[in-house]
Amino acid sequence: MVKLMLALDVMDKNKALEIVKETSEYIDAIKIGYPLVLATDLKIVKEIKELSNKEIICDFKVADIPSTNEKIAKLTLQYADGIICHGFVGEDSVKAIQNIAKENNKKVIMVTEMSHPGAVMFMQPIANELAKLAKKLGVDGVVAPSTRPERLKEIKEIVGEISIISPGIGAQGGDLEKVLRILSNDDYIIVGRSIYNSESPKESAKMYKEKLKNNF
Ligand code: C5P
Repeated sequence: MVKLMLALDVMDKNKALEIVKETSEYIDAIKIGYPLVLATDLKIVKEIKELSNKEIICDFKVADIPSTNEKIAKLTLQYADGIICHGFVGEDSVKAIQNIAKENNKKVIMVTEMSHPGAVMFMQPIANELAKLAKKLGVDGVVAPSTRPERLKEIKEIVGEISIISPGIGAQGGDLEKVLRILSNDDYIIVGRSIYNSESPKESAKMYKEKLKNNF
């Protein structure tokens, strides 16, 4: 089954913990990014890991020189199971994160093409090259857009066995039915606002989980 990753981009600690408790029976993984960490601190990652016992991925879209990437990865992977980085900064920057992840048995996930409209300006033209780099480096996952199923398909064909983490379902308008025809069992869809902003995050998470179970 395709897995459900909750993007927990809320900016209030209690709300975050509440949503995790409510939705945890329906989600497989939690993605924590800057909104929640900057509103609280990095220890929120540890707290949510302990509370949920789910796979926790930090979406810090790391994009720096190797030595700085290494420091960011060390701090993040003390608590998280994986970290999202950019590949456009080059092979050495990604490798620096992979070295830290390997020592700790953690995941490195690389962004290929982002899901928002602006991604067509600069990211889309190089996204296939980024996907090739991800494959060459043997990263543990790549981020590719549910908002553009044809691009998702192309990127999946390039990366082959590497797991896809795909945002864009829900608030960004991605078509889940089309996306599920492309994704396979170890892939994930990421859903944020349409779960955490809904009247009942629990019911919304349940609805997505059921769609994944029934393959729509
Ligand atoms: O709220 P929504 O479901 O649109 O959340 C999507 C999540 O995926 C956000 O956390 C966003 O930062 C993230 N993301 C994305 N496109 C990427 C990488 C991450 O939308 N390429």
